[in-house]
Amino acid sequence: MSIESKLPNVGTTIFTVMSQLAAEHNAINLGQGFPDFNPDERLISLTTEAMKNGHNQYPPMPGIASLRHAIATKISTLYGQHYNPDTEITVTAGATEALMISIQALVKPGDEVVVIEPMYDLYVPAIELAGGKPVLVQMTVPDTPEASYRIDWNKVEDALTEKTRLLILNTPHNPTGMTLNNADLDALENLLERSPFFVLSDEVYEHIIFENKPHLGMSSRPKLASRSIVVSSFGKTYHITGWKIGYCVAPSYLMKEIRKVHQFTVFTVTSPMQVALAQYAADESTFNGLASFYEEKRDYLAKGLASTKFVPYKSNSTFFLLANYKNLSHESESTFAKKLTIEHGVTVIPLSAFYMHPESKSANNHLVRFCFAKQPQTLDNALARLAVL
Ligand SMILES: Cc1ncc(COP(=O)(O)O)c(C=O)c1O
Repeated sequence: MSIESKLPNVGTTIFTVMSQLAAEHNAINLGQGFPDFNPDERLISLTTEAMKNGHNQYPPMPGIASLRHAIATKISTLYGQHYNPDTEITVTAGATEALMISIQALVKPGDEVVVIEPMYDLYVPAIELAGGKPVLVQMTVPDTPEASYRIDWNKVEDALTEKTRLLILNTPHNPTGMTLNNADLDALENLLERSPFFVLSDEVYEHIIFENKPHLGMSSRPKLASRSIVVSSFGKTYHITGWKIGYCVAPSYLMKEIRKVHQFTVFTVTSPMQVALAQYAADESTFNGLASFYEEKRDYLAKGLASTKFVPYKSNSTFFLLANYKNLSHESESTFAKKLTIEHGVTVIPLSAFYMHPESKSANNHLVRFCFAKQPQTLDNALARLAVL
């Protein structure tokens, strides 16, 4: 038996496919974005303590108050925007839930949503589930490995119509490592002045920007914040992707609608972890050192790859970098990535997986994504396998 699918174009995500292939072939998995090391012992102790102290029942629907306060304090200290913890901050089951409920709350059938390609794989199916229409704008591909992918704001402007409800941004950007700069924010402010759309900004890598550059997200300018939902993830910041805890912040008129969907999606998320995170996140050093921690890993992997036939691209943020494999093969990105796993024991993600039409020519630039959120030994083992290609 089969039924008419609401998501006919969705299969198993490439991340799952590549991780399964990695397991089958005993490959070193630099594909899916998760650390292969444990979080801080203190965070684990705070969580066990919270469990022993009886924090094991339903917490309040928007998240426990102390965690919402810790989030508000962090954002106002770092970016200057004050969000009311009672009405403008919601703790969610990872950034994934925050993104999904924001889209379901805002997008109505027939609405258009502008999405920047390459993109995280959740956005398009979430828009389609809401009955919306994704309108794709491709980023400008860099000419050299040192340059960055960029958003062409003229193209974004061209994509806007009177049906545009939402623009989805991701900064710092997975998989390219692009970060928005002040000129980008100026251009966006300009567009928001002229058109009545909202911004959903996926900022899960907000604390992983290299070379001491600031994070310029939607909370860094009042005009942008007043029209935006900002999403983040404790999973990425504290090496706890499996805990699935994130949050979103938005002006109360938007958050009111988002909470209606959150209430009937999960109602609330795991209480001992929230109690622990509230105490842990109150200490700024827990997120302030993250960028330099990952910058070292970026440099290590980039240097190692530079001595192979891969050409690494400069990553300005996140825990990913792209590398060109033209010196090794002219196959499509997905064929190359699968072969690398099966024949050489190293798993990466084809960049084309971040495009709506992965087999199209414009999605195939001979680039694959490496994750460097790994222990030195894991990176060394992978580099040793790549060195002989
Ligand atoms: C850009 C982006 N957004 C959202 C997520 C999902 O975050 P979470 O694991 O907190 O649901 C990820 C995870 O890889 C991501 O890279």
